[in-house]
Amino acid sequence: MPKSDTSRLYHQLVKRMRALADIKNAMALLQWDQETYMPKGGAQFRGQQLTTLAELAHRMGTSPALGKLLEKLLDKAELSEVERKNVELTHLYYQKAKRYPSSLVKALTQAANRCFMAWIQARQEHQFAVFAPELEKMIALKKQEAEILGYPACPYDALLDQHERGLTTEILENIFPPLQANLISLLSKIQQKPQPPDDFLYAYADKQQQWEFGLYLLQAMGFDFNKGRQDLSEHPFTTSFSPHDVRVTTRMHEHQLATMVWSCIHEGGHALYEQGLPAEQYGMPGGQASSLVIHESQSRLWENCIGRSLAFWTFHYPAWQKRFPTPFSHIALEDFYRAINLVKPSLIRTEADELTYHLHIFIRYEIEKKLINEHLPIQELPDLWNALYAEMLDVKVSDDVQGVLQDVHWSHGSLGYFPTYTLGSLLAAQWWEQLQQELPQLDEALAQGQTAPILNWLRKHIHGYGSLYTAEELCRRVTGKPLQADAFLRYVQQKYFRIYGLE
Ligand code: CO
Repeated sequence: MPKSDTSRLYHQLVKRMRALADIKNAMALLQWDQETYMPKGGAQFRGQQLTTLAELAHRMGTSPALGKLLEKLLDKAELSEVERKNVELTHLYYQKAKRYPSSLVKALTQAANRCFMAWIQARQEHQFAVFAPELEKMIALKKQEAEILGYPACPYDALLDQHERGLTTEILENIFPPLQANLISLLSKIQQKPQPPDDFLYAYADKQQQWEFGLYLLQAMGFDFNKGRQDLSEHPFTTSFSPHDVRVTTRMHEHQLATMVWSCIHEGGHALYEQGLPAEQYGMPGGQASSLVIHESQSRLWENCIGRSLAFWTFHYPAWQKRFPTPFSHIALEDFYRAINLVKPSLIRTEADELTYHLHIFIRYEIEKKLINEHLPIQELPDLWNALYAEMLDVKVSDDVQGVLQDVHWSHGSLGYFPTYTLGSLLAAQWWEQLQQELPQLDEALAQGQTAPILNWLRKHIHGYGSLYTAEELCRRVTGKPLQADAFLRYVQQKYFRIYGLE
């Protein structure tokens, strides 16, 4: 009776993985609460509760019984294709988790805490030197981690693989340098043209009106409020406890309406992905959101390809004007469209436009390679940062808070993370091109306020697979092409040639 034996074992695995997912999702709920509603005084015990649950999850995820079960299942020929993938991927994660000595897990957690505190203090005091010693310790631990994980060519590969399975420096070296050259050449053409005015985007906007407009946009995208909600937090993020409970957050400033709008659409894109995961696969790789590149391809598709398109705002701009009549009742759609797509080199990554954004990423990528593969002394970091900003973006950094201290990532120990932002944009452009081929009336539909055809397509081709495929695999399956920059370059060229009247 081999078949029933296999299904009995597979059922045992599902049961274990669901229990593990329950613990992890309970942690996610505690973390969400920490960022939204927890009173300040709750921090100490909340930290303790999260540590206890993290240890429990680590024990469950590395238990010898789980290992034995996976070994048995790997030998079974009767598994369906999805079951087999679920078993293989769970086995891969199991082996990875087993490789970490508990001393390293603890050291990394503690270093991240200290490094984060030092980063906050360094920003307050405008002193990189306050951050430097803790960052140095963190880098040393990340190098140690890379050695434990192993890598094909250089230690940085091990860190890239943590954020996108199979990603290597070699892959990035084939994509980033030519993309960089193309973007810089396009940027210099744009800079020879007059800039459209965008001052009206910074006009006063009532917070209650902003909040309601954010909800309106989520609704327009197809966000299901029976299976999710929006709240306020210091930094916008998306989290999920199951496909039936997905949370987005936003923040508002009275003179930054645009920041709220596009961050709302961005997080909405992440959330639609989470809501579209197959609930029956809860706890298994097939029911989990894939690694960062696919996740970011969803947020950026909505934020940029859709959310900065003329077609989308043809329908929604009247709603914007109605809610914010001063000054927008006097701003024509075309002027609004040009303003929201303004290209301008700047110091801050998160405020960058769609085009120069990637230059910010290439700078971090160059620095991370030097930190992990070579032995760049930490104290040389600000000078290198500032020199790269002068070279690539032609902007001058006069304060480290606006420079090397602007991102939180390194303080968490997230190295190898930044490249996934650019890859997410490239992949978004590939989905967008495919969507336009398969849904030929796409612009007309968007101009009539219809986003359901897009969401249905994403559900069918992307969301339904969870993390069964890497970004590269999914890209080939859906578009027939490898993950590359061609579609993105066609997209930005078409868009900015029109906006700036280039030849
Ligand atoms: Co994102």
